[in-house]
Amino acid sequence: RGAVAFFGQHQAGITTPAQDRLHFVAFDVTTERRADLVDLLREWTRAAARLTAGRDAGPVGAVAGPPEAPPDDTGEALDLPPSGLTLTVGFGPSLFRDASGRDRFGIAERRPAALADLPPFPRDALDPAISGGDLCVQACAHDPQVAVHAIRNLARLGFGAVSLRWSQLGFGRTSSTSRSQATPRNLFGFKDGTANLKAEDGAALRAHLWVQPGDGPDWMTGGTYLVTRKIRMTIETWDRTSLAEQEAVIGRAKGSGAPLGRRGEFDPVDLAATGAEGEPVMPEDAHVRLAHPDTNGGARLLRRGYNFVDGSDGLGRLDAGLFFMAYQRDPRRQFVPIQARLARNDALNEYVRHVSSGLFACPPGVRTRDDFWGRRLL
Ligand code: HEM
Repeated sequence: RGAVAFFGQHQAGITTPAQDRLHFVAFDVTTERRADLVDLLREWTRAAARLTAGRDAGPVGAVAGPPEAPPDDTGEALDLPPSGLTLTVGFGPSLFRDASGRDRFGIAERRPAALADLPPFPRDALDPAISGGDLCVQACAHDPQVAVHAIRNLARLGFGAVSLRWSQLGFGRTSSTSRSQATPRNLFGFKDGTANLKAEDGAALRAHLWVQPGDGPDWMTGGTYLVTRKIRMTIETWDRTSLAEQEAVIGRAKGSGAPLGRRGEFDPVDLAATGAEGEPVMPEDAHVRLAHPDTNGGARLLRRGYNFVDGSDGLGRLDAGLFFMAYQRDPRRQFVPIQARLARNDALNEYVRHVSSGLFACPPGVRTRDDFWGRRLL
């Protein structure tokens, strides 16, 4: 499978039709020197341009270098096609000011107001060891080996400047980000991504996804903000729930994906529809009602999550769920109010638990070969 263009106005991997596989990683920066951070981002950008084109991470390659030196590519993607690999980078709040309040790189002044720490939400069960991070890299590809190879080589290049904080593999996309794609299903068996923002939605992408001139500091114009939430799904409980109850919880039919009371997957959601006895067709606590733009002052998200199964939990249950990722123009007006509403009232809460959280400012795209990720910030 082919290559996705790396250079452009926006980073790839956001409106790119969601690939099948994910390897997401968050790093902490260990160097205290701004010049080292610049060098790292320059080197990562160069490597990313090569990797996404299906080439080795370094100019020499996995097997053409001197036998006495470690190769500049680890080699496990030799012979594999680019597989639609995209690499997308983001900067966490702690890059601007660390936990002890230090501005290590002299950029605290340039922190966008929209990169405000997420508030705690009711029912949060966050594990700090798999939350946050100074930098993130999202690798998506149609082949898991290609995604893992890319992350491994970026981590190798970052030796001495960054340390890996946490990482997440995703085995199946739970969203479509283009009308050219069929809607996939999440681990609850429901179509997920039906009402998502899509690559074709030009005006809506400007309104809800890409940071516009004047929104905040110039270095973020053309960028976007990413919220990640690792959401554990208690699938064993879900699996003992009746079909009718499952559909009432989501607010859509399990088979067709149609909103309750409608026939087709893409029929509009009608929140005002009532049944024979005046009861709402879409229950008051249905996920779709509470997440819908009409309930949230028009706020929308570009969701780009993945299913995960991280083995079992030692209690006879799969450690499974949804690695939720949503891109948006301003989390303070989008993710935060939507999640606040869901955390209070969503019928899904009985079956899910948020165990990790991340927030990242994803700068605009790299336009030329001498440009690099975050150049306008640093
Ligand atoms: C819609 C599942 C968490 C925001 C949906 C749909 C499903 C679903 C099946 C309907 C199909 C669609 O339009 O995509 C889940 C599951 C979750 C989860 C299983 C947790 C494990 C979240 C979270 C948020 C969110 C944390 C945001 C804070 C949305 C939005 C929609 C949606 C904005 C579209 C609503 C509309 O416009 O009709 N979700 N979701 N979801 N979800 Fe979730």
